[in-house]
This record gives sequence, structure tokens and C-alpha cells, in this order.
Amino acid sequence: MKNEVLAKFDDRNDPHGITRRRFFMGIGAGALGATASGGTVVFMQYLEPNVLFEPPTKHVVGVPEDYPITSVVSHPSIRVYVVRTPRGFFALSAICTHLGCITRWNEQAGQIQCPCHGSRFDSSGRVLAGPAPRPLDHLLISLADDGRLVVDVAVVVDPEYVLRV
Ligand code: FES
Repeated sequence: MKNEVLAKFDDRNDPHGITRRRFFMGIGAGALGATASGGTVVFMQYLEPNVLFEPPTKHVVGVPEDYPITSVVSHPSIRVYVVRTPRGFFALSAICTHLGCITRWNEQAGQIQCPCHGSRFDSSGRVLAGPAPRPLDHLLISLADDGRLVVDVAVVVDPEYVLRV
């Protein structure tokens, strides 16, 4: 009698019932499948080229004749000033060294001024006043083979660098 009652609840011989073994085998198979799928996705990403597209850093800023001697010309789209002195050309970053605001050239005052916190720089980028901790960055300016001036906004150069044309 006791065996009959137990056999009623024992589903090991039932081909359609879910046994504990089948249940855990199903969970194990699902976990293996999920792991294999994740591994395949990561492997496929590894095979793809990891290319980072960045904007160009070199910008043509005209020809030397565009710049009068002793002039500061602003190029707001690339955040650069091109300065021509009797010694030659140099390029200044227009990004304030305090907190990164974009400065403006004030022709009347003969200064580069930051509208955010009042830093002021001379036409060589040296700090005249304000919270800016250091001068404006000097950027690489060069003359291309076709005679045009090119500024590379990614290359900071020594403040004494001057392009003689
Ligand atoms: S960001 Fe230019 S003075 Fe503060």
C-alpha cells in the first residue's frame, strides 16, 4: 500500500512529466546556451575593426597675403587666432586656459578677452589679467606645398615658435 502511494508521486517513469533531473538539465542547457551566445557576440565584436572617427585637426587658414603684418585674425570655426608679426606667423588657441571658454579678440583694446570670468591675454597669448593660470596654447602653423597656411589644432608648440614666410 505504501509503495503504491509513493509510486503515484514518483514521476521518474512518466515520459511526459518533468522530473527534477530534467528540470536541472534544462537550466544547465539554458545557461550553456546563454554563455555560448554571449561569447559569440564578444568574439564577433573582436573581429570587427575598432575604428574611431575623429574630426580632422589640420585646417587651411588661407595664404600669407591674407594677413597684414601686425595683425590678429580670428577663425572662430576652428577656435584659432592667426597672428602675423614682423617676425612671422604663429597660431594661438582661442580656448581659455581657465575653464575652457572661447575667447574673443578685442581690436580696440588690443587684447584677447574671455567673456566668462574676465581673463585677458595679449596678442601673444600671455596672461594680462584674470583667473587664467597660464598663457593660451600656441599651435603648429605651417606652410603647405601649395603655399597655403595650415594650422594643426592638435599640436601645441613652444611659444617661441614662429613660421617665417
Ligand atoms: S574660462 Fe576664461 S576666465 Fe574663466
